[in-house]
Formats: sequence, C-alpha cells, structure tokens
Amino acid sequence: MKFFLDTANLDELRRGAAWGIVDGVTTNPSLIAKEAKPLEEHIREICGIIYGDISAEVVSTNAPEMIVEGRRLAKIHQNVVVKCPLTRDGIVATKTLSSEGIRVNVTLCFSANQALIAAKAGAYIVSPFVGRIDDTGWNGMDLVRDILQIYRNYGFNTQVLAASLRSPTHVSQAALAGTHIATMPFKVLDLLFNHPLTDKGLAQFQNDWNKAFQPAPAGG
Ligand code: G3P
Repeated sequence: MKFFLDTANLDELRRGAAWGIVDGVTTNPSLIAKEAKPLEEHIREICGIIYGDISAEVVSTNAPEMIVEGRRLAKIHQNVVVKCPLTRDGIVATKTLSSEGIRVNVTLCFSANQALIAAKAGAYIVSPFVGRIDDTGWNGMDLVRDILQIYRNYGFNTQVLAASLRSPTHVSQAALAGTHIATMPFKVLDLLFNHPLTDKGLAQFQNDWNKAFQPAPAGG
C-alpha cells in the first residue's frame, strides 16, 4: 500500500520525505488555502520535495472550466495528478482529461455507485472519504471494501485511495482491505511509528549495553 501525505504544508512534507516512506501527496483547496501561497508555485515546490503522484484539485465547478484548469495543473509537473470532484461536470472533465492522457483523481466519493462511475470515466484514482463517512454514523471502511470488490469484479485499473483517514487504525484497516493508497495527515503518519514496547525495549538494550561496556569512572 502506498503512503501519501494529505497536506500542503512544506515542513510536514520535508519531515515525511526524510523518512523515505512517503510515495505521494494529496492536496485539496482547503489544505492549499491554509498555506496561503500561489497554487502553481506551491504545487511545484511540493513536487520538488516528494517524488511521486501529487494531487492538485480544480476549483471550477463546470466541466469546460475544469478541463482548462486540469490541463493547466497537469503542465506544472509530470507527477501532477488532477483532482476532480465526483459531480456530473467533474465526471465529464475526468473523461476528457483521461482521454488526453492526464491522470485524474476523482475525489469526494461517498458511495460504491459513485466509484463505479469514476472508474467508467477512466479515473486513475478514486478517493472515498473514510473519516467523513464515519462522522455520519456509517462505516467508511465498508465502502472502501465494496469499491475494491466491484473493481475486482470488472477488472478496472482505477486505484482506490482511502482518504480522510484520521487514525493509525484507519491505516491498518485500509491495508487489510487491500487499498492501493492511503493518504493521511502528517500527525497520523507520525503516530504509525509508535509502540510503547519499542521504547521500553530500546531503553533496556541501552541500559544493559552501558552497564557492560561503559568505562569505569576515573579514580574509581
Ligand atoms: O483527502 C481528503 C481529506 O483531506 C479529507 O480529510 O479529515 O478533512 O475529512 P478530512
């Protein structure tokens, strides 16, 4: 399963990149707006930090404008994946951009039928929002499993990207389901490292080592 960082914050991306386990980045208009920098320059900087698929989302809502915007975003860097929302216009734009060889991540997916539509339009990635479904009292991971099964049934190549992940449990559930990609905030990626027995075990190893090999104090 690929790990993507769901952030547009350059410091977080640099910290994640240093670990060598980040395969890509997802951004959205809310995440870009938080950083308050011009979009194209910002996306270019992100492409310079992480080598992998970098999703950049259109903000237009009608198909002709989404297509123009998507073409412009795709020109920023070869690794840019254009994100289009799962609306009727977004699907028209997805179909057109995909037919031009531009890779599209169809976002804001909340149902299996929406995911089926995205795949039929030629989406490179579909992004079901797990946490936001959980927020409504439904099970977001059930949707991820359903989409994976439907895609398997028909041999669709569209990758399933579990988005809106809020915890390490979400990440391991996504991996168990066989999700192609999990995108997560930096905080969640950081939490994946943690286990109290790792810290305890390391402290014990260091203690034992130091007791055996530390030189005796001078004059002792
Ligand atoms: O990738 C989608 C993600 O940014 C949404 O996450 O936590 O705002 O639901 P969240």
